[in-house]
Amino acid sequence: MKIIIVGASGTMGKYLSNAFEKEHEVIKAAANSGDIRVDITSVESIENLYKQAGAFDALINTAGPTYVGPWKKMADKEFRKGVDGKMMGQINLVLIGQHYINPKGSFSLITGALTHDPQLNFANASAANGAVEAFVRAAAIELENGIRINAVSPTVIEDSPQYFPYFPGEMPVTMRQLEYAFRKSVFGANTGQVIKP
Ligand SMILES: NC(=O)c1ccc[n+]([C@@H]2O[C@H](COP(=O)([O-])OP(=O)(O)OC[C@H]3O[C@@H](n4cnc5c(N)ncnc54)[C@H](OP(=O)(O)O)[C@@H]3O)[C@@H](O)[C@H]2O)c1
Repeated sequence: MKIIIVGASGTMGKYLSNAFEKEHEVIKAAANSGDIRVDITSVESIENLYKQAGAFDALINTAGPTYVGPWKKMADKEFRKGVDGKMMGQINLVLIGQHYINPKGSFSLITGALTHDPQLNFANASAANGAVEAFVRAAAIELENGIRINAVSPTVIEDSPQYFPYFPGEMPVTMRQLEYAFRKSVFGANTGQVIKP
């Protein structure tokens, strides 16, 4: 299978790239490194990503920039980081990618437990996650040619200890659990689902 992983240089993306490239052709993309550079806040850059990658079977996205910080410092400019990044970045990866993906291909997007379980400083991510999850359900009934779409929604992950203090009482998701949630999305039959590792 030919799999594009966007966000491949990040904590999740690195782990998933290592796991999937043992069995599949993986094209790694990120903002500043990778086989292909992409800025998911730019539709031109996303078009360029797909043109360079050519037809593919699965898109895994783990890039989802958001504003993390105190509520009092958040205004329109800060909030748009998640709107342009985690929300529209992921939506545009699908809207544009549907014209390049092979029949029966799949899109796997990233959201997070913050959708339903807010934490201080993360309102921007909560809102972007909610929009992406609603988009996933809507896109699943529109996509043609057997193309599937799901979101993976973990709580804080074990390789991100810097976030543990922000998620009191949350048992971190292991990297292997995260990998298997993405495996379910990419290799399973489900569509329109929010998969919780
Ligand atoms: N870490 C957690 O515990 C956790 C838990 C639940 C959900 N999440 C969500 O999962 C996502 C990934 O988390 P992570 O910890 O793996 O993040 P990370 O380590 O910060 O990695 C982010 C990745 O996204 C890329 N990226 C950032 N902005 C981009 C842009 N505009 N265009 C293209 N690529 C861009 C980065 O590329 P460069 O390295 O080149 O900048 C990097 O590859 C985030 O949306 C986060 O909210 C994380």
